[in-house]
Order: sequence, then C-alpha cells, then structure tokens
Amino acid sequence: MTVLVAYASKHGSTAEIAEAIAAALRDDGLAADCAAVGDVGGLGSYDAVVLGSAVYMKHWQGDARHFLRKHAKELAEMPFWIFSSGPTGDPAEDDAAWQEPKRTVAKAEKLGVRDHVVFGGRISPESGRMAKAMADNTPEEYRDRRDWDEIRAWASGIAADLGG
Ligand SMILES: Cc1cc2nc3c(=O)[nH]c(=O)nc-3n(C[C@H](O)[C@H](O)[C@H](O)COP(=O)(O)O)c2cc1C
Repeated sequence: MTVLVAYASKHGSTAEIAEAIAAALRDDGLAADCAAVGDVGGLGSYDAVVLGSAVYMKHWQGDARHFLRKHAKELAEMPFWIFSSGPTGDPAEDDAAWQEPKRTVAKAEKLGVRDHVVFGGRISPESGRMAKAMADNTPEEYRDRRDWDEIRAWASGIAADLGG
C-alpha cells in the first residue's frame, strides 16, 4: 500500500504539513511519497492520495485545483483525502467562509473524498508585502497555528482506514 501526499505551497508551511503527514503514515507502516503537485507524474503507482493546498483569498492554489481536475477520474476510483492550510491569527476570530475553499471541497465531495480538514497555517513577514502587513497585525503566538499533534492524529486516522 503506497500513499501519495501531494501539496501546493507558496511559502513552505503547507509543504511541511504534507511532510509531517507522510512521516506519520510511514510510522504507521505504510509507504508514503511526498511531492509538490507539479512534480507528480501520475497516480498509477499509488493506492491512495492525500492532497493539500494553502488557501489564499479563499481559494486553493491553482496547481492544486488543476491536479484535482486532471486526476478526477482516478481519484474517484481510489481512497483520497484533502486538507487545506490557512487560518492564522486569534482562533476566536476564525471565519469559516475565509478558510474553506467551498467549490474545491464540493468538487472533491462529488468525487467521493473521504475527509476534508482545515489546518492552521503560518504567516511570515518574509513572505511578501501582504503577508508582512498581515503578520504585523497578528500577535506572535498566532502567526504559526500549525498543530503538529492534530496533523499527526489526522494522518493516523488515514493509516487506520487503509489498514496500516
Ligand atoms: C495574501 C494572503 C492571503 C491569504 N488568504 C487566506 C485565506 O483566504 N484563507 C485562509 O485561511 N488563509 C489565508 N492566508 C493565510 C495562508 O493560507 C497561510 O499563511 C498558509 O499557511 C500559507 O501556506 P504556504 O506557506 O504553504 O504558502 C492568506 C495569506 C496571505 C499572505
């Protein structure tokens, strides 16, 4: 059983989430490859897929959306999961409409996605003018909201589902 963890990440924090998911799957006895969506040649050698993207302005990255479209037929015939990475700032002010890439989730649900989860993201001032402005307005403790225990637990659920 080999799982592909494919991701789209502009500034690296979603890539690190994908790596953590792949590592957790391996810890649970599965083989797992982790790659940027653009580096994936095909799904032929995989039994299951985890696809994730950073969310910008309420949308997945274009290359992740393209991946979902391009491989729709194959994904519909295999177990697959998706995750989004995005929210930073005070969790009390989280706004589902800002976090959830609605149309992408709807498309994935049509294809039979087993689960969709939104993980906290990371905003870093080095990631451009907009990011710097956002980071400056975000208390330091909420600039990186990635919860590694939550991420590993989600991956372990996938491994259990796949019999790992
Ligand atoms: C210009 C800009 C727009 C963003 N838009 C959203 C958004 O619509 N929803 C959300 O949840 N997070 C949003 N974020 C936060 C990012 O998704 C978060 O920083 C994410 O972890 C970035 O992932 P990456 O490092 O893999 O690119 C935005 C960040 C920036 C800088």
